[in-house]
Amino acid sequence: MSDILHPANEQSIAAAATALNEGGLVAFPTETVYGLGADATSDGAVAAVFAAKGRPRFNPLIIHFADADAARRAVIFNDHADTLAKALWPGALTLVLPRTKDCPVSLLASAGLDTLAVRVPDHPVAHEFLKACGSPVAAPSANPSGRVSPTTANHVLESLGEAVIMILDGGPCAVGLESTVVDVSGEAPALLRTGGITQDAIEALIGPLLVAGCDDAAPKSPGMMSRHYAPSIPIRINAETANPGEALLGFGPNAPRRSPNLSRSGDLNEAAANLFAMIRMLDQPGMSGIAVMKIPDTGLGIAINDRLRRAASKS
Ligand code: TXA
Ligand code: MG
Repeated sequence: MSDILHPANEQSIAAAATALNEGGLVAFPTETVYGLGADATSDGAVAAVFAAKGRPRFNPLIIHFADADAARRAVIFNDHADTLAKALWPGALTLVLPRTKDCPVSLLASAGLDTLAVRVPDHPVAHEFLKACGSPVAAPSANPSGRVSPTTANHVLESLGEAVIMILDGGPCAVGLESTVVDVSGEAPALLRTGGITQDAIEALIGPLLVAGCDDAAPKSPGMMSRHYAPSIPIRINAETANPGEALLGFGPNAPRRSPNLSRSGDLNEAAANLFAMIRMLDQPGMSGIAVMKIPDTGLGIAINDRLRRAASKS
């Protein structure tokens, strides 16, 4: 076993928090995907995150907190934020809010914006780790920029093992898609990224959201490039069968028995949890591409299809 990969327990969590507070990068599990954590108050540590991922500096990072009270010291809450945080934190929801005047988070982490994306993850290891760190933790998904997000500790080891001091292994991520990002900093809340919590669940709490790409008034998130989440071989979506040389990624009971299946029973939660790991598994140099069967565009299927479209995008 690698000496940087550690099963998460009291000792390894404490050691990981010490390494982070000394300026090092530490990967840790959340319910969505694994994060590449850095002390968000340190310009040097945050710069190291951008360098490790090869991430453009204009794409701001999500800042993680052990609980909502800690988040309130970094951003200014309003009624919409209060409602969403009460109902959905801890959970797969990121809120974009104005920075407080004395916000301790590095300006580099928010790419110089006067807003900050904040989240309280719903994972026992993330919770204990964030508590032990004591300060806000900047954590993008722990993958090279533009590639598939990691849903196991081994995924992190494969692609960013060189960059991190430690990887806390908390098993596979239960949700498997990144958090939903909602900008509640202005008058009209806007959906910036679909994710682990559905648009319907959010709209049930605070009413209709502006949606980038649908509403001209909706702001766009700096990081939502069209090509993203991409394996090294092409992806083809809404496939019925595989062409010669392609690997088929099935969905539902009618898919061929021999192909890997995101969810044989057609369960979208199960499909989301399997998505990134199965794409990685099929991303083999011997194959000409991955053909993914049609996923219904409802509930979590909307976020799954968003990721697949970006993975399939050529630009
Ligand atoms: O599930 C997740 O959200 C994972 C886990 C580790 O928490 N993190 C994650 O981070 O996906 P990242 O850095 O890969 O995605 C951050 C997204 C980007 O689309 C970025 O543009 C947006 O959040 N974002 C961050 N700060 C923002 C801000 N101030 N305003 C608008 N969008 C922001
Ligand atoms: Mg990412």
